[in-house]
Amino acid sequence: MDLAVRATATAHPNIAFIKYWGNRDENLRLPANGSISMNLESLATRTTVDYPEGLGADEVCFAGRPAGPEMSARVVDHLGRIRTLAKSPLFARVDTDNNFPLACGIASSASAFAALTLAACAAIGLALDQKELSRLARLASGSACRSIPGGFVEWQPGSGDSDSFATSLLPAGHWNLTDLVVVVDRQPKAVSSSEGHRSAWSSPLYRLRVDSAPSRLEACRRSLFDRDFTALAEIVEEDSLLLHSVLMTSTPPLVYWKPITVEIIQYVRRWRGQGLPIAFSVDAGANVHCLTPGESAQEALGRLQQIPGVLEVLQAEPGGPAALTG
Ligand code: DP6
Repeated sequence: MDLAVRATATAHPNIAFIKYWGNRDENLRLPANGSISMNLESLATRTTVDYPEGLGADEVCFAGRPAGPEMSARVVDHLGRIRTLAKSPLFARVDTDNNFPLACGIASSASAFAALTLAACAAIGLALDQKELSRLARLASGSACRSIPGGFVEWQPGSGDSDSFATSLLPAGHWNLTDLVVVVDRQPKAVSSSEGHRSAWSSPLYRLRVDSAPSRLEACRRSLFDRDFTALAEIVEEDSLLLHSVLMTSTPPLVYWKPITVEIIQYVRRWRGQGLPIAFSVDAGANVHCLTPGESAQEALGRLQQIPGVLEVLQAEPGGPAALTG
């Protein structure tokens, strides 16, 4: 019989510069296109997993309370994958918490499933390398595979399950980019990303977005290597607007933006025109990620905080990999 052990892992969410939307295989979460992201250091999920002898079913707690049915079901599914891989009969007790709002376009599933994958594998005694951990996290949530490696990360779509994982393109210290996450809505989104991925194909713009992704990936890679903020701003905004064009023209249409989302986009474009290096990116939610080089972060933060209706601005620099912390 395996010895029951416990492990704690911390993982950061990530902001995608070139985004993942739609799968060529829903069950395996093989993405229609590659994506590039940056981990967010100051935001984190911390997850403890242990496998006590005699537990009859998996137990999942979020912030000290039993997790809701949807979250529990997804976590239990993933624990089942890990149990099968480890050939273990043991059930897990999972305790997880975030230091940022859940499910509203701040990639909570990315850090959640990256931390869960790392902690559960360590606790059950599965020794996997970073590629294997990323591949395994992908099966639970696509963007989670990008929260396993550190810094600036690229997820290769791969030819199948075995080669679709994320690796670090550049370390966190390469460029002190700052993500100012402008929170305008703390409510969980009405339609989850998982549901959205399934209807992506219904948009007449979908093929165009997927077919043109390789050239945006290349432009994004180049801008990161060169630390060229002007080029990064153009490609990140183009990709985000393309994503939302697909969302809005899917059946049923998905409109995540609120009036204030559009207002912030307009401010950002105006300020950049006036010389402040700042760019926006919006995930599947109403909140706006504003990217800016570290030197301009305080100026940008001050301006964003003054926009009426902004609830809070979270500040994050490039983050490290998912790590065992106990
Ligand atoms: C808009 O990774 O949350 O944030 O695989 O169903 O968990 P699941 O979806 P998820 O989708 C992320 C969508 C996005 C873009 C991105 O992060 O690349």
